[in-house]
Order: sequence, then structure tokens, then C-alpha cells
Amino acid sequence: MESCSNRLRVLHMDVTKDDSVKRAFEYVQQNLGSAELWGVVNNAGILTGFTVEFSSMEDFRNCIDVNLLGYVRVTKAFLPLLKRTKGRIVNITSVAGKFTLPFCTPYTASKYAAVGFTDCLRLELETLGISVVSIEPELFLTGLTCHDTINKNLDAQLESLGPSLKEDYGDDYATSLKDVVKLILSIACSKISIVVDDLESAVSLENPYHTYKPRRHVLSRFLCSCGEVIPRSCHILIMKLFFRLFFSKSKAIKDVIIKIVSWL
Ligand SMILES: NC(=O)c1ccc[n+]([C@@H]2O[C@H](COP(=O)([O-])OP(=O)(O)OC[C@H]3O[C@@H](n4cnc5c(N)ncnc54)[C@H](OP(=O)(O)O)[C@@H]3O)[C@@H](O)[C@H]2O)c1
Repeated sequence: MESCSNRLRVLHMDVTKDDSVKRAFEYVQQNLGSAELWGVVNNAGILTGFTVEFSSMEDFRNCIDVNLLGYVRVTKAFLPLLKRTKGRIVNITSVAGKFTLPFCTPYTASKYAAVGFTDCLRLELETLGISVVSIEPELFLTGLTCHDTINKNLDAQLESLGPSLKEDYGDDYATSLKDVVKLILSIACSKISIVVDDLESAVSLENPYHTYKPRRHVLSRFLCSCGEVIPRSCHILIMKLFFRLFFSKSKAIKDVIIKIVSWL
């Protein structure tokens, strides 16, 4: 913060609350002075829950509330100012909103919805001259993907399972679930500047791309490229095969998969 412009203002806003967003809007409106609002970046995000059965309704509600409705609420509030400048909205969605990332289903579902919202918004605001840019990062190491927090939450979730779910899934599933979560997190990239660079381009270039895809890990780039060119049915088949092998009883197969991913 010390190295930032002295014109920078920081204010608290809870995107899940109408009042809070309204207050933020009023603050901006009152403090613009002779300036105008050029852009809004929707970045707020949370990750709660795991599989469908290992997530509560609250996990789904919270993810949707922040990752989708938060974007809708902020966008609707600030549109009057953006219409005057023919400015820009930048939505940080996710690769998980384009290619199904299981085992964090509330998050994935909310990001798919956020991608749909962003795509609709882009087409609807075209006639008003407002551009809408999406940023779809792969996994990056941030507070959202903190291994310790996720592992702690997963342990607590597994502990709290009722007897019938424990029986349905069994101990092997719990172990494989922990391993697959660890495997997914292991490909998270620490170079966050890649996302920041794309964000800067999205906000400031005269003619930005409609979508930026900050991706670095070989595996996630490969999977995303496959997802973009091969038919959806083939993509589903590959993912099914991968998870069938990973969740098989054979520890050797799982170890080979983990080794291959760690090499990439
Ligand atoms: N990390 C990844 O691998 C990854 C990949 C793809 C997309 N993304 C997306 O990138 C965005 C930024 O996430 P991040 O990775 O930088 O995680 P992060 O460090 O946890 O940042 C999330 C931000 O969202 C804010 N937030 C959460 N709930 C909010 C609410 N109700 N109202 C206002 N702000 C709220 C948090 O504010 P507080 O700190 O005040 O709680 C925090 O600043 C998210 O939309 C995320 O889904 C992340």
C-alpha cells in the first residue's frame, strides 16, 4: 500500500449485501470529483464444500451468493456510472467455469453460472458500448487454494459424515478423495503476476480480448486445450477414465498418476 498512488481509496464492501454495495456506490459517486468511472472488476470469490454429498446446502448458497450474485449485484449497482463513460466490466471467473472441476462442486457450479452471466452481459451491453472482459485463471496459490485450510475443512467434513454416508463411501473413498484434492492443489501455480498482468491488460487496453486465460501448468493447459477442441462427450470420457483409475482399489495406479502429474 505504501508504494501505491495517494489517490488510491480502499473501502469495505460485502458483495452479498445490498446495503453494503449501495454504500460503496454512493462513496464512489460522491468522491469521483471531476473524474468518471471507467471500470469495475468483479473479483470476490470463495470456495466452500467438496462433492455434492460432502457439501451442505449452505456451501452451495454461500458460493452462489458471492461468486455469482455478488457479481450481479455489483454490476447492476455500478452500471449507471459505466453507461456514462462507455466503460468496462472485468469479471474474474475461472477455468472451473469452463471445464468441470469435480470435488469442489458448489464452487464449480457457481463459476459456470458466473461464466454464463458474463457471456450474457457481454452481448447485452454491446449496444451500449460497454465492454465486458472475462478472466479465466487456472489454479493459482492464493488464500482461496490454501492447502492447510482446505485439508482442515475436508477432515472436518469427513468427520461429520453420518453413518450411512460413511458406509456408502467407505474409508478407501475418503483416502482417495483426500489424495485427489491434494493432486488438484499440487498443480496450483505460485506466479500470481500472470493473472495480474492479464488483469491490467483487461482494464487498460483500448481493445482488450474478450477473455484472458492465465494458465501455466502443462497439465491444465493440455486439459483446457483438449476441452476446447475435442467433443464434450470425449472430454467427459477422458475425465471419467481418469477418476475411475484414481479411485480404483489399486494404490499402484494412483501412485503412477500422482508421479506423472508431479513430473509435469
Ligand atoms: N486462486 C485460484 O486458483 C483461482 C482460480 C480461478 C479463479 N479464481 C478467482 O479469483 C478471484 C480471487 O480469488 P483469489 O484466488 O485471489 O482468492 P482470495 O485471496 O481468497 O481472494 C478472494 C477475495 O474475495 C473477497 N471476498 C470474499 N467474499 C467476499 C464478499 N462477500 N464481499 C466482498 N469480497 C469478498 C475476499 O475478501 P476478504 O479477504 O476481505 O475476505 C478476497 O479479497 C475469485 O473470484 C476466485 O474465484 C481463483
